[in-house]
Amino acid sequence: MRIAVGCDHVGFLLKRAVVEHLERRGYTVVDLGTNSAARTDYPVYGKAVAEAVASGACSLGVVLCGTGVGISIAANKVPGVRAVVCSEPYSALLSRRHNDTNVLALGARVVGENLALMILDAFLEGEFEGGRHRARVDMLAALDRAREADRED
Ligand code: RB5
Repeated sequence: MRIAVGCDHVGFLLKRAVVEHLERRGYTVVDLGTNSAARTDYPVYGKAVAEAVASGACSLGVVLCGTGVGISIAANKVPGVRAVVCSEPYSALLSRRHNDTNVLALGARVVGENLALMILDAFLEGEFEGGRHRARVDMLAALDRAREADRED
């Protein structure tokens, strides 16, 4: 499975740990930067990861910034992406099971490395349950389509 990973300058050290962890677990990582502490802008990397997921090039994405908030907002602007920012594993697991999330956002200023990796493992372990949740996720896709249709008007 291919997983896209991206971060801003605040998230880049934690991204390194995330990439190593994913590779150790046998995933193919597509690292979309940034790769230094030089100041940059989280929307760039949130968009890049989200597009890699929305296009099908990658199955899932992980994005990191200081809080995980800005970069998750950016990722969620890309139709087809359901990004969740988590600071504990329960929400990460349930977001996969109920919301079919496809991008995990982590806050490098919020969670330490060990907790971040536990959250990541919970996210990877979760599988969409479908059933009663399917219609709700379909409603989210309808919101994406409505926004695109508005743009075309
Ligand atoms: C950068 O200072 C910081 O605002 C960014 O990493 C992130 O936390 C935004 O949501």
